[in-house]
Amino acid sequence: KRTGTFLWRATYGSALLGVGLLAYNVYESRHPVDQMPPDPSKKTLVVLGSGWGAVSLLKKLDTENYNVAVVSPRNFFLFTPLLPSCTTGTIEHRSIMEPLRHILRHKKASVAFYEAECTDIDPVKRTITMRDNSEVKGDIAETTLPFDYLVIGVGAQNTTFGIPGVEENACFLKEIQDAQKIRTRIMDCIETATFKDQSEEERKRLLHMVVVGGGPTGVEFAGELQDFFEEDLRKWVPEIENDFHVSLVEALPNVLPMFSKELINYTEKTFKDEKIDIHTKTMVKKVTDKSIFAEVVKPDGSKEMVEMPYGLLVWATGNMPRDVVRNLMKKIPEQATSRRGLEVNEYLVVKGTEGIWAVGDCSVTKYAPTAQVATQEGAYLARLFNTMAKTQSLEEEVEYLEQLANGATAPEDKKTVSSEIEVKAKALRRTKRLMPFQYTHQGSLAYIGSDRAIADLSWGEGNNMSSSGQLTYLFWRSAYVSMVFSTRNKMLVIMDWLKVKMFGRDVSRE
Ligand code: FAD
Ligand code: NAI
Repeated sequence: KRTGTFLWRATYGSALLGVGLLAYNVYESRHPVDQMPPDPSKKTLVVLGSGWGAVSLLKKLDTENYNVAVVSPRNFFLFTPLLPSCTTGTIEHRSIMEPLRHILRHKKASVAFYEAECTDIDPVKRTITMRDNSEVKGDIAETTLPFDYLVIGVGAQNTTFGIPGVEENACFLKEIQDAQKIRTRIMDCIETATFKDQSEEERKRLLHMVVVGGGPTGVEFAGELQDFFEEDLRKWVPEIENDFHVSLVEALPNVLPMFSKELINYTEKTFKDEKIDIHTKTMVKKVTDKSIFAEVVKPDGSKEMVEMPYGLLVWATGNMPRDVVRNLMKKIPEQATSRRGLEVNEYLVVKGTEGIWAVGDCSVTKYAPTAQVATQEGAYLARLFNTMAKTQSLEEEVEYLEQLANGATAPEDKKTVSSEIEVKAKALRRTKRLMPFQYTHQGSLAYIGSDRAIADLSWGEGNNMSSSGQLTYLFWRSAYVSMVFSTRNKMLVIMDWLKVKMFGRDVSRE
């Protein structure tokens, strides 16, 4: 009985503590304290971008040590792992957008933010040019910004490999507007397919949803779309039941090349059960407004060109560098041979430059272009900048103490100052010992539809584990909720999931 009472009290106490912490967290996030003003006498650090790399840097950076300015065409951070869920309304888009102003307003010293696209970087004059590309423009929509230090975290853009017709006809899945456009298109295809007197052939075309690219973006989107059909569309629009179908097209012999063989097989089997068609060894060569044309490698090795009519085409074949990055690469001889992005050294410094760093998808390292890598790179740079500031202040202190020691006449004073110099010098040696960037891979996770996920997890030295299915899906959900930055967005995501469980997804077209 005593143990029971104790357990009850402990549970009650922890619940109360949890609620208290949550309330404090909410209060604190809504009531930021006054910030130190920016100090123009400090070195100017310009950060380009508001994605995984840049925000991870900004969160850990001691902004009081620099005069910090952020430039990005997006005044929010986007939690990309849940973007495929926005295409079907499983998650509402605002739930995965975190206002950058909230993040910056919680820093000790204020940070300037300019909503603009950086169009040019001059590594010699040490300036960037930025342009306001938003709808509302003032008298000045383009200007320059000087920097002492620059961190480039502009991400990458979608690659089309120059395949004709892709740019004009396909939807992509990188930004929040892309997800909104896909959501609208899905419902538009369905309503058009059920239009009076629509021919059978046209109905079938409009209800054929084609995804090109069997990487994680393509796979996750295909899974989400099939869920939408199974759980909602077939209920509310029963007349499309026999014709709606999802196809995934991949040039390689299998999807998800970065996952283990076991998980690839599991995904392919799950897709087969869900009735998603996977077309591997099928490389798209041309796209028109109603069809894709692809070269299929047949089992005997011969090749055949096939036509696939589509209603919705989602293109997810990976990344290529943005224009601003390509232009910068042309100005730096050391970057001449790089094709995929900015080559960086082990401290993430852009090769051939001084005081310019690159993080995330815009840089080329031996690691995959993922949020996990970008986050760790951003955090590393924050440590680097914090250390640089500490080093500078320690150097100044040592210099001052040395002057004191030279001026001191009494032997006791000289001794005291010398021992103080020794302490500071030791601290200086410690802070100067910054290691090169090292990435710790914690694993890969992907949602594959019908409440199943796959996970290749790693921990410690060479420990790996593969897991798949519904329990992995619960892990996927809890892992991503815990990664969402703010309590507000965590709650929004959880509420979206509950809403869909209770009422289903919204099938109205925006
Ligand atoms: P981004 O996060 O893309 O941020 C780039 C920033 O730069 C943006 O704020 C953008 O507005 C800004 N910008 C663009 N152009 C300019 C310019 N000219 N000037 C100034 N700013 C500019 N990775 C994982 O590890 N796990 C996942 O589950 C996962 N899921 C994903 C799902 C989808 C649908 C997608 C598309 C990607 C996913 N990724 C995932 C990959 C991950 O999102 C990227 O690797 C990550 O976003 C890279 O971070 P970044 O900071 O380099 O770039
Ligand atoms: P990707 O580069 O991983 O995959 C693109 C796929 O498209 C490749 O398999 C390629 O063979 C195929 N392809 C290219 N051209 C083609 C053509 N003409 N016809 C048919 N297929 C073609 O791209 P993705 O999925 O956009 O991912 C980009 C990055 O983001 C990756 O590093 C990925 O790991 C990361 N990411 C991670 C996620 C996760 O961990 N859950 C989710 C989404 C993205």
